[in-house]
Amino acid sequence: MPLNPDSSAPENGANPTVESDPNKFSLGDFLVGDSKDPLKPPPAFTKWHRAIERAVELYEPVLLGPAEARTTLNYRGKSLPVINFSSYNYLGLANHPEVIAAAREALATHGLGACGSPVLSGMSDLHRQLEKRMAEFLGYEDAMLFNSGFGGALGAISGLLRKSDVAVMDNRSHLSLRDGAVLARTRCERFDHNDAESLDAALSRHKGKRKLVIVEGIYSMDGDFGHLNEVMDVADAHEAQVFVDEAHSMLACGENGRGAVEHFGVERRVQILYGTFSKAFGAMGGFVAGSRETLDYLRFYSHPYVYSCALPPVVVAGILKALELGTTRPELRSRLWENAEYFHAQLNSLGIDTGDSTTYIMPIVIGDRERLYQLGHELRQRGLWVAPVDYPAVPQDKICFRACVTANHTRADLDEALNILSDTLLPAQLPQLEHAH
Ligand SMILES: Cc1ncc(COP(=O)(O)O)c(C=O)c1O
Repeated sequence: MPLNPDSSAPENGANPTVESDPNKFSLGDFLVGDSKDPLKPPPAFTKWHRAIERAVELYEPVLLGPAEARTTLNYRGKSLPVINFSSYNYLGLANHPEVIAAAREALATHGLGACGSPVLSGMSDLHRQLEKRMAEFLGYEDAMLFNSGFGGALGAISGLLRKSDVAVMDNRSHLSLRDGAVLARTRCERFDHNDAESLDAALSRHKGKRKLVIVEGIYSMDGDFGHLNEVMDVADAHEAQVFVDEAHSMLACGENGRGAVEHFGVERRVQILYGTFSKAFGAMGGFVAGSRETLDYLRFYSHPYVYSCALPPVVVAGILKALELGTTRPELRSRLWENAEYFHAQLNSLGIDTGDSTTYIMPIVIGDRERLYQLGHELRQRGLWVAPVDYPAVPQDKICFRACVTANHTRADLDEALNILSDTLLPAQLPQLEHAH
């Protein structure tokens, strides 16, 4: 039975209140309240928010330095040096000197902002160059840019689907994809994560309709690959199109960095590809690559594209350089994967549960909210920065820390992090890892 956060019943253990047992509640409990004023959140939320102050402290951490493998946080008003496993800077390009030099040059030639929607005034020669390079790199006729990854996913799906269509999504899909379907007012069907039979059943329920299967290259919370071969086979059998979100995989996986579609050898079979510049590119923004015909249409029907300012040219110049480095320096990808494999193997040898992860994104499953936040502070105080991920972002039993390994972590960074994890998560159980390598 769901908890009632507004319950004023006395504390008796069986009927927890937000004050007596705040860890029994989650964001999922306060979406709807009975306030008549839309600016007034449900009173139970405000009480709960106060009661979980210690947990809230771990969110919106303030960086005092760059998103590098080692950085500094403001923790309780003081500078705290940390090993960073929370940034998506997978290839270390965010702070690469050549990327910074390219951005600096564009700042001088093009100024700070695009100052307009790409359709009316925000498109620069740098934007056009990036569109062309992305299309060539990925082997599509055209590519278009969005000023955020979230906006790109939302804009592509809502721009393509209509009320009578069906969006068929993996149930671990990112919210930007689900919100795209909501905005399109399209019918949304979920299938079980990476389950070809469940996908087949979902598609079978909608014969005769236009269907778009929506999956991810690497799932952002679980760190496992989408089973793209199986997805393509099932979708083809139903004459459904497939939309692949390569937010976490683009540039960081595949022999040439062309994402999970390259990794699985399905590049030629996928007709529309979406990704972000906020992860391995180390910047911000999103893109969609596909046929010219599709993108000519999308450029006029995707609201986040038409009605929002274009990416700042300074960012576009940095992305162009990141693309060049990511495609000409395969050693960056090799280092990322070597680091991921090492960290993964060591975590597992410590008995730490990393769920289904097979990539550089690793959940460290805790499964208990109170423990998550207590450990979160301990880890941070010991100099390890991992992000807490709570329900409803993940199922209750998968409440976890998420660790993102990057190419720029040294073996010493990884070993120090492993020691901190072992000391904090498994006290008195395990030996130190000083000589693990
Ligand atoms: C799978 C997935 N798609 C889309 C996005 C949105 O990207 P951005 O953060 O660049 O807006 C994210 C963000 O983390 C993501 O994980």
